[in-house]
Amino acid sequence: MKELKSYELREKYLKFFEANGHKIIPSASLIPENDPSVLFTTAGMHPLVPYLLGQKHPDGTRLTDVQKCVRTGDIDEVGDETHCTFFEMLGNWSLGDYFKKESITFSFKFLTEVLEIPVEKLAVTVFAGDEDCARDEFAAKTWADLGIKNICYLPKENNWWYAGATGPCGSDTEIFVDNGKPAKCENSNPGNDPDKWVEIWNNVFMEFFRTKDGKFEPLKQKNVDTGMGLERTICMINGLKSVYDTDLYSDVIAKICELSGAKYGEDKETTRAIRIIADHIRTSTFLMGDERGIVPSNVDQGYVLRRLIRRSVRFARQINLDSKQLVTISKMFIDKYKAYYPELAMNENKVLDELAKEEEKFSKTLENGIKEIEKVLKFVQGDTLNGKTAFRLYDTFGFPIEMTKEICAEKGFKVDMEGYKEAEEKHQKLSQMGAEQKFKGGLADSSEQTTFLHTATHLLLGSLQKLLSKDIHQKGSNITAERLRFDFNFDRPLTEEEKKMIEDNVNKAIQEDVQVICEEMTVDQAREAGAEGVFGSKYGDIVKVYTIPGYDKEICGGPHATHTGQLGEFKIIKEQSSSAGIRRIKAVIDTSKAKK
Ligand code: ALA
Repeated sequence: MKELKSYELREKYLKFFEANGHKIIPSASLIPENDPSVLFTTAGMHPLVPYLLGQKHPDGTRLTDVQKCVRTGDIDEVGDETHCTFFEMLGNWSLGDYFKKESITFSFKFLTEVLEIPVEKLAVTVFAGDEDCARDEFAAKTWADLGIKNICYLPKENNWWYAGATGPCGSDTEIFVDNGKPAKCENSNPGNDPDKWVEIWNNVFMEFFRTKDGKFEPLKQKNVDTGMGLERTICMINGLKSVYDTDLYSDVIAKICELSGAKYGEDKETTRAIRIIADHIRTSTFLMGDERGIVPSNVDQGYVLRRLIRRSVRFARQINLDSKQLVTISKMFIDKYKAYYPELAMNENKVLDELAKEEEKFSKTLENGIKEIEKVLKFVQGDTLNGKTAFRLYDTFGFPIEMTKEICAEKGFKVDMEGYKEAEEKHQKLSQMGAEQKFKGGLADSSEQTTFLHTATHLLLGSLQKLLSKDIHQKGSNITAERLRFDFNFDRPLTEEEKKMIEDNVNKAIQEDVQVICEEMTVDQAREAGAEGVFGSKYGDIVKVYTIPGYDKEICGGPHATHTGQLGEFKIIKEQSSSAGIRRIKAVIDTSKAKK
């Protein structure tokens, strides 16, 4: 059979579901908005939770998309044949529209008629039933009627899907493809022979809501949520051994080999290192190049990104790849994916620049850190490195704990993780990097001062757009009681004159003591009203729009001053580069000058 390319699978999938009444929606950002429960978008359904719970979706009750996803839970498995930290999920949804029969029939037809997978190569699992929900005889019969013979019943651990600790969930039916390996037992099936059966698609029948106390309550509507892994499916259809052999990776892997002299497939360790580099750089490229892109840092998503880049640097050294070449690899991914994800091309400079910066920083600390680990290990009595020292390696040398663990393991040592966590918690308390600082919208707390600075941030953005360019948008915001810090896209330093003009414009708004208006409206209305915001399918149906008439209009969660006079006086204290193409302004307000 002719090789099926990844872009062809995307196209075929969306076309098939479109032809069956589904509306194609764009991929949401990898960085969830207003959802503190997850760091990254891990499944196509995440941005759709409000609609699964009953809100009306503007595009109707049948949706389909290709969603970029990041899952780092299995990071240690990356480098084997099937695991990746970034992947694309092909999905289709019924929001209270069709249910099990149609969903299973769609999947069957797509696999057997569009992708022409022989029926006997397919196997499915269905929910075995328990006290919360009955055995899914209906799903099993539907599959059997369509001609699937290999059907097995499995419990909640296998055939139940949860959106999170609480939220929509339900039993599912998973679809597997035979990878051709010899059967391990008689009646080989996905339950008893997982090496032979590769899961490619999961159809979730979302009809329950799991409450805080673990109860399953029926949802207002019965939904279907499906997810098919693009990488795995392409791999299986083309009869390849590994997702890294697909067109999503093969040219990048060849390049890594060319640049390093390493031979892919020669030995396990080299192959794993090459795959890890390719995987981590692809994920990092998508995270930095996202429409809500992030940069490496020591907290939250930025920390995961930092860890991915730093691991790539380490594995690059292992195969003698000059880690400066990671930028070449990243550029290859941008070129490969930009037709489908144009945000990568738009953010190309930022991605390559941030990657180069992090690589350089880490290469230096790596030298020092490895020496330091070797030094401290000499003094370890027994086989365990204490947690305090492991934390110091992180705190002082920027060594992520996972890396310390890996290097220690290579030398036959363990790391006291409990002690590490204790040291980390102590540090977090001290530096107040705890939860209270991660306030929505970049606010460190919700005091009057930070609230007013938040309003000043809106006036600043409005002024930048009015006086410099309407294409300027927020790229980051951090507010403490002392100052605001605002990052925005602009490709050169501001002149003194420009800074003065912007300051004057903000102060004019303050002088005029304009009312700050908060309204709730639909995303479409907000867009039509010209509100600033990242539009995609991420917002719920109803959003808050803050308007400072004549100055600014933004989708925002608040809080804000009620009128601009409360801000007193605005002053820019610093304007500098933040990263390539991104400028940073620090500014203060003097509320003692406020009109009462
Ligand atoms: N949400 C389901 C999954 O991620 C489809 O497997």
